[in-house]
Amino acid sequence: MTESVSTRDQLEVTFAPLSPDFARDPYPTYKALRDKGGLHYFEDFDIWLASRFEDVSAIVMDKRMVRSLEDIATAEEIARIQRAGNWHDMPNHSRFVQFSLLDSDGAVHDRLRRQVFKLFTPAMIAKLRDQIQTYVDKLFDSLADRGQIDFVDDLAAHVPGHIIGRLLGVPDEDCPQLRIWSENIVQFFDVDRSNERKRIAETNTTEFYEYLTALKHERERSPKDDLISVLIEAERAGAMNADEFISTCMLILMAGHGSTIDVLGSGMHALLRFPEQMARLRQDPALIQTAVQEMFRYESPLPFFHRHCIEDVEIGGRTFARGTKFGLLYGAANRDPKQFENADAFDIGRSPNRHLAFGGGVHFCLGNHLARLDMDIIFSTLLRRFPTIALVDEQPEYKRGLSVRGPKKLQIAIRPA
Ligand code: HEM
Repeated sequence: MTESVSTRDQLEVTFAPLSPDFARDPYPTYKALRDKGGLHYFEDFDIWLASRFEDVSAIVMDKRMVRSLEDIATAEEIARIQRAGNWHDMPNHSRFVQFSLLDSDGAVHDRLRRQVFKLFTPAMIAKLRDQIQTYVDKLFDSLADRGQIDFVDDLAAHVPGHIIGRLLGVPDEDCPQLRIWSENIVQFFDVDRSNERKRIAETNTTEFYEYLTALKHERERSPKDDLISVLIEAERAGAMNADEFISTCMLILMAGHGSTIDVLGSGMHALLRFPEQMARLRQDPALIQTAVQEMFRYESPLPFFHRHCIEDVEIGGRTFARGTKFGLLYGAANRDPKQFENADAFDIGRSPNRHLAFGGGVHFCLGNHLARLDMDIIFSTLLRRFPTIALVDEQPEYKRGLSVRGPKKLQIAIRPA
């Protein structure tokens, strides 16, 4: 499946995405990859890594690049690749998680994306503003006198799951469970795919599937103004089947949950590391939208995705055979000095800021308006209500892995006005 690899192609740059050093600061590695130029072969994943903005955006916009192997590999090849990556023997995970709108291409992808696209337009998402504000206000009321909080666990972790849950039609009291399912399922996507993680991912997928099936039956009897009811109609109209119904619900939750928590955490951390930027935002709250975009660029919470080419392609003067797998390092591209002036500076007024944190091309993130609205409301409210915010732990620990970026915890001291 892969272009022949010479020793020249092997990474001379130390690339250890599971190491604590990489978790602490991946940017020197990303810089080394960009500086070397071209694409680099990473044997552990049998993948060619693209790190420069120009290469990553070219691959993402290229119609010959797809996410799924379906049209380019035989069933035996797919089975072999699944075994090699320990993706096999997880019946519900492969049925509802490994297959989804995100992991489909062409006509199937278009059909599935069309069913949900209209619910994620800026106008539809803007209607959620008051609901989100009310929820965030209540959350801050409950934390205001605590003095010290873990910004990740006490605040960030509560908002996206709750809002996406409401959008889907999950009752408020069940929303905390969504976080547990989503984290346990998503964990398996990273480099460490042990059997233990695999068992947890499969069990949680099954529980989530059973929960969604029960909720679907309830909505079939009494529809509401929610996404589940819209998808029930789509299934009735023959626009999706029962498995696609479940996988779409799961994707919407999982794509937007952990990622928003992570960028809330890293965004808060960035404001605290660069106090002059926090002061600037306090002085000029209208900068919130560019500030949020900069948080996505500066610490992209989903820094790594992949594509396969469906025919031979030429990149940087070399030909890659049909079926070659490419790694898109969005996190590295977003710090490329050829694209961004002062790329390593956190600048809340940066404009233009055409980053790749939400991907690009046909798979461009559906939830980007929602994620940005959550961030806008949370940071605006926080700065308005708390004149004093300080970092307690100077070096918060970041999650390990290539596919995620965000602090595990972020202890901060807050004092209300
Ligand atoms: C911090 C927030 C988020 C980030 C950084 C993010 C990032 C991304 C990226 C990079 C992709 C494209 C993947 C690729 O290139 O292969 C994507 C796709 C997607 N995202 Fe997001 N996302 C976020 C939040 C959300 C939210 C809140 C939702 C929904 C509630 C969501 C739903 C989706 C869906 C459904 C897709 C698949 C689109 C398709 O394949 O056509 N995302 N996201």
